[in-house]
Amino acid sequence: MDIKLLKSTNLNGQVLIPGDKSISHRSIILSAIAEGISEISGYLKGEDCLATLNAFKQMGIKIEEHDQKIKVYGNGLHGLRKPSGDLNLGNSGTSMRLLAGLLSGQKFSSNLIGDDSLSSRPMGRIIEPLKKMGASIYAKEKSAPIAIDVSEGLEGISYELPVASAQVKSCIMLAALYAKTETRIIENHQTRNHTEKMFQKFGIEIKEEIEDEKKTIKIFPSQEFYSTNIDIPGDFSSASFLIVAALIIPNSEITLKNIGINPSRTALLKVLVEMGADIKINNVKENIERTADILIKTSSLNAIVLDEKLIPNLIDELPILFIASAFAKGKTIIRGAGELRTKESDRLEAMSNALGNLGVKFQSYRDGIDIVGNGIFENSVTIDSFGDHRIAMASSIACTMLDGKNRVKNVDNIQTSFPNFIEICNSLGIKAELLK
Ligand code: S3P
Repeated sequence: MDIKLLKSTNLNGQVLIPGDKSISHRSIILSAIAEGISEISGYLKGEDCLATLNAFKQMGIKIEEHDQKIKVYGNGLHGLRKPSGDLNLGNSGTSMRLLAGLLSGQKFSSNLIGDDSLSSRPMGRIIEPLKKMGASIYAKEKSAPIAIDVSEGLEGISYELPVASAQVKSCIMLAALYAKTETRIIENHQTRNHTEKMFQKFGIEIKEEIEDEKKTIKIFPSQEFYSTNIDIPGDFSSASFLIVAALIIPNSEITLKNIGINPSRTALLKVLVEMGADIKINNVKENIERTADILIKTSSLNAIVLDEKLIPNLIDELPILFIASAFAKGKTIIRGAGELRTKESDRLEAMSNALGNLGVKFQSYRDGIDIVGNGIFENSVTIDSFGDHRIAMASSIACTMLDGKNRVKNVDNIQTSFPNFIEICNSLGIKAELLK
């Protein structure tokens, strides 16, 4: 499917954004292996999180939906059943990497598969630490499908993450629950900490030591833990597309309500404010995850040299930051972003293609890009999203600034993370139409 987009004159209004994808995955995983019934509100019903939910149904977990809430009948740490067939995780890297950790500790074998994009993403980064723990895990060419056999039991390890990845960290944390001894994970660049927060919410004991940018997490094995109720806030990564839209579309003022603003996820806010964005954080609430209403007004933006250290904390927002940079005055310089090449598509390549179609001046590098924000664009453009949800949404926002009839192709995968993206865009004043 494609999206047709016309130029927008202004955005106005208040909206709720669907639930956080990262927190949704973790809420189901921990509810399933807790003792007792957990209720989850705000669960993201995007394809990625539904893949995780269905995997647990396949492993014998009863999951029901009542009054917009998901009820999970947890069966305890050792209560999962061998799935009858392969676990198909679709496009979802988070599902595959987190479940590989959890399944390495089970007394049954399993097979994890995914779509073409997921089957080409790097899995060596989880296979290596899981093997060190004693897991029987195999993948040809270090990518999916992944086969997991029953091991002789996992041992705790001390592991320094070679890539700044919350998925790898969370994979090891879940395996660590099944190890015979304590596990220690060392992060040199702190990544999103939703798994740590979710462990704490379920009363699972971990110890975190933070020294400057470095963090050590100790996970203690064989803990019994009990169900809890979870409120999932709006997804900051989904919100980021609308934040940038409101900044660049003239005469705009919008409020995004109840958004998760966990500091390990929101470096984009800091960067945009440094670029000159008029963004206010209101109504801050501290629950297990910090939430707020975000007020955004049209702003004139200036280019920046992005601090590389921030990249793990805005990795999913880089495609839309590229679009903001295209409208900022001056040359934005981004380096140290090689991880973009390992996402649902090679996002450096896909965004270079998009910027090229838009008529933006840029120079791409192995691990980054320079973008000259001249704001002078082509009209009536067609951009391919390469089947990547975030490329599709970032390109759509850029198209709202162009005259003529613009088209973003191959957008079905928006369903993985932001199922009502077009509806919400239109409710704020964007002129977008899905072409079937
Ligand atoms: C995620 C972590 C990030 C992010 C992904 C979700 C998570 O991946 O890109 O969309 O939920 O842990 P990496 O940890 O591999 O960078």
